[in-house]
Amino acid sequence: MKKDKDSKSQPELVADWESLFRVFIRPEGQASRATLIKYMDPILYGLNDFLKTHVGITEAVSLKELSKNFTDTIICDNPEKKLADVITCLIKEIAPYAVNVASPYFVGHMTSAIPFFMVHLKTIVAALNQNVVKLETSKVVSVVEKQVVAKIHRMIYDKKESFYQKHVQNTDTTLGVFVEGGTTANLTAMWAARNAKFPPKKGFNGIESEGIAAAYRAYDVDRCVILVSRRGHYSLRKAGGVLGIGNQNIIALDTDKKNRVDLSCLKRTITRLKKENLKTCILAIVGIAGATETGSVDPLEKLAKICAENNAHFHVDAAWGGPTLFSKKYKHLIKGIQLADSVTMDGHKQFYMPMSCGMLYLKKPHTLDVIAYHANYVNRMGSVDLGIKTLSGSREANSLILDSALKIMGRKGYALLIDHGIETAAAFAKEIKRRDLFELITPPVLNILTYRVCPPKIRKKLAVANDTERQKINQQLNKVNRRLQRIQREAGYSFVSRTTLLQNNNPDDAVVVLRSVIMNPMTTIEILNEILDEQEKIFDTKLKDLLE
Ligand SMILES: Cc1ncc(COP(=O)(O)O)c(C=O)c1O
Repeated sequence: MKKDKDSKSQPELVADWESLFRVFIRPEGQASRATLIKYMDPILYGLNDFLKTHVGITEAVSLKELSKNFTDTIICDNPEKKLADVITCLIKEIAPYAVNVASPYFVGHMTSAIPFFMVHLKTIVAALNQNVVKLETSKVVSVVEKQVVAKIHRMIYDKKESFYQKHVQNTDTTLGVFVEGGTTANLTAMWAARNAKFPPKKGFNGIESEGIAAAYRAYDVDRCVILVSRRGHYSLRKAGGVLGIGNQNIIALDTDKKNRVDLSCLKRTITRLKKENLKTCILAIVGIAGATETGSVDPLEKLAKICAENNAHFHVDAAWGGPTLFSKKYKHLIKGIQLADSVTMDGHKQFYMPMSCGMLYLKKPHTLDVIAYHANYVNRMGSVDLGIKTLSGSREANSLILDSALKIMGRKGYALLIDHGIETAAAFAKEIKRRDLFELITPPVLNILTYRVCPPKIRKKLAVANDTERQKINQQLNKVNRRLQRIQREAGYSFVSRTTLLQNNNPDDAVVVLRSVIMNPMTTIEILNEILDEQEKIFDTKLKDLLE
């Protein structure tokens, strides 16, 4: 932000040892303790009051306008503001223009309100400032992490008690790792799958050491592929690029009518790949448990069988849907997840943790041995250093947050959240169907659905249209839906997102859809009705003419 106009009238602040000591040394006297507590007050209450009373999503100012206030690029020699002023500025000048993801009217993305205790837990993590990369900077936190990882592993794989007793604090084995998010978890899974396919052998030191060209030569392979449905998260393509197998080798498979991977397409693709070139290696097949755009779940049990038949690593991307396992009522929706060699989960999604936290779980405790790295000063052989088998180096103690949250919420607490999301999404779908203006495009399996504006008159035309006519009508509808989403977003009262889906897997039949993610326990069907009312009004007043 540009400097306040009246900042000149305040006494000049200086950077010197006296003030440095004040910010580094924990205050001893009562007065300074009281000051620190006073500073927490606006964070805990001021920000919370803002989030509560500011029911909208964001102030209606364009990003272009806002960006004009952020053009100074000089770091001042002396301090510009005191902590109290910085906090006030963040609450009054930044928060209103950020996005109030905690609003129950914010139903467009996988980011939502978090239980308030998460702010306390995050503060403790910052205050302790442990670095979990190594035992020497985390000690007990490393063992807490191993314990909480085992708890989630147990929820997924449900092995015997003796298995967990053997591995929970075993320094040689790894049931799971904390990472930055779903992207890094997916990348780590594919990294392990790649290295396991090209291990060291006589005359070859392994792919991690010698690289992809030498590995292909050593194993007489021309190409590695990863198979996933069109609904696969784009992080898998990043993994293809980073791992050197090439992102064009992340093969997108067609989906069935329920947006699940089309198994016959998968089988046909495998046959075709083998027929085209026997030297093509299927590195992994990825099943999705809660697709980003549609919330759909692949037939995981069947995918596991196909993986076994083709000697491919079976990865399940459950970044979104994983916590469905908390719900006795709905955990069957992701059945088969326990057959996966590896599972991605995101803490900052349906575990309701603050940004950012991802996790990767492994069926077999030695799977990540193939990505282990050691250094002389850290991550020594045989140590409990948790940085040995992770892509990231230094990282925060997210395990403390997850472990505490599990204790505060219990399985049942999380189950209530999951059930609410799934049931509210089902009620929302019913309402969309009931209203004439809308067409439900993908009914919810979990708590994500898509729909679009498509008035009855246009629907009738679509029903009898030939290919060219249908595509033309869809293009008009796409324009309307795109604009509607933008107008609603810019008005700042509520938010649904939008994406583009292919109908019948045909690139010529791309339809723009509105996407709703229901995860905030405060989002009720009444609120969702208000959002639909607003959309109807926007259509009637601003967009109707585009379809005349
Ligand atoms: C299914 C799925 N996988 C992976 C990711 C990537 O997660 P992150 O954004 O935490 O890296 C997402 C994010 O939305 C997702 O929905």
